[in-house]
Amino acid sequence: MKMIEIEGGRKLRGSIRVGGAKNASVALIPAAILTDEEATICNIPEITDTDALCDILELLHVKVNRSTESVVINPQEMINTEIEEQYSKKLRASYYFMGALLGKYKKAVMHFPGGCSIGARPIDLHLKGFEALGATVKNEDNKYIVEAKELKGANIYLDIASVGATINIMLAAVKAEGTTIIDNAAKEPEIVNVATFLNNMGAKITGAGTSTIKIIGVEHLHKCFHEVIPDRIEAGTYIIIGALCGEPLRVDNIIPEHIDSLLSKLEEIGVNIEIGPDFVEVLGMEEKLKPTNIKTAVYPGFPTDLQQPFTVLLTQLPGKSKVTETIWENRFMHIPYLKKLGADIEVKNQTATIIGPKKLIGDEVVATDLRAGAAMVVAGLLAEGTTRISNAEHILRGYEQIVEKLQLVGAKISIKEI
Ligand code: EPU
Repeated sequence: MKMIEIEGGRKLRGSIRVGGAKNASVALIPAAILTDEEATICNIPEITDTDALCDILELLHVKVNRSTESVVINPQEMINTEIEEQYSKKLRASYYFMGALLGKYKKAVMHFPGGCSIGARPIDLHLKGFEALGATVKNEDNKYIVEAKELKGANIYLDIASVGATINIMLAAVKAEGTTIIDNAAKEPEIVNVATFLNNMGAKITGAGTSTIKIIGVEHLHKCFHEVIPDRIEAGTYIIIGALCGEPLRVDNIIPEHIDSLLSKLEEIGVNIEIGPDFVEVLGMEEKLKPTNIKTAVYPGFPTDLQQPFTVLLTQLPGKSKVTETIWENRFMHIPYLKKLGADIEVKNQTATIIGPKKLIGDEVVATDLRAGAAMVVAGLLAEGTTRISNAEHILRGYEQIVEKLQLVGAKISIKEI
């Protein structure tokens, strides 16, 4: 087990460079098997979630050539074999192999996906989408068998604008015969990045980034080169750290529009920021800060993935702030640990009420999931004294070189095996 140890209360100065988006990369890697030639993707972050997907590629006999700058994926000798539990359970996004294998071979067999325990996380909408395209879905011994004689374009309405279902259906439909329309599609920037990748390979997808996506099936997908967008959640996490500990702190290589909802909240509460074309510099906080309320929502609303780190900032605002989580039923697992550090927070149903400002004092805490873990890092950097975060593996699933990046701006942070 890994543990992160932080000596908090230090000011952080300099700049942090954000890597490629986890939630785009984890879809792009499975999507790459759809090419008949090879795909080169640069800016894939070095995190354990992308490592786990590359292991699945190797299981499928796909050639993977990884360097620091790019990953070259060549599926010309691949086989379509069952993805066993030891591979599928390592992360949620293993389920993108269902759509990609179905799209390529009209058959996918894989065990249940894993991932953070932040809610029930059903995949009924993915499966309904596959069925609408002509596939049958069987669920036996904790595995899904999805197969089709033919895949035919269809009109698919998603009851919820699900990121995963939108991407998985795009992957399955890209080589289907005819036209597929996904209505009430998710609009997250990661969806646009995946659609652009597929189009770079010769797919015909329009409307990504809006709630209606149109996919005209094609027979072949060719060689391509693609770049992953910057990780908006990693960017937001460091900007929040900058607000609490920066003096000043610049977060580089980002697309500020992707985090408009966070930036406008920061301005509202009194954090001074400079927004550049590809950076945000956190200059400091006003003397008089204001409390605020946030409600998580699908893009462009306030992202659920930033809710947990942002809650730490709310503990430092005077008065009463509220956080309402609308996407995941179990995303308040960081709250007991924030309380242990000294925060005053009450959770009722899906709303946390935070009374501040409260001084945080370092203690032993747990990263219960990826973003809860990120919240513990934010809290540990702010808190006086030493914070030890166990189960730090969760954090490394989504934050590339987090310890090294924070050390470079002056944090006293280390990671060790316990
Ligand atoms: N949902 C269903 N049925 C489905 C699919 C989703 O009911 O078939 C529900 C979910 O239970 C949830 C809501 O719809 O309540 C939204 O789920 P969505 O499918 O959009 O989420 P996801 O694709 O499983 C991705 C990210 C999450 C992020 C959400 C929301 C990946 C690999 N994961 O999950 O990221 O929170 O979108 O933006 O892209 C994270 O990075 O920490 C993380 C959890």
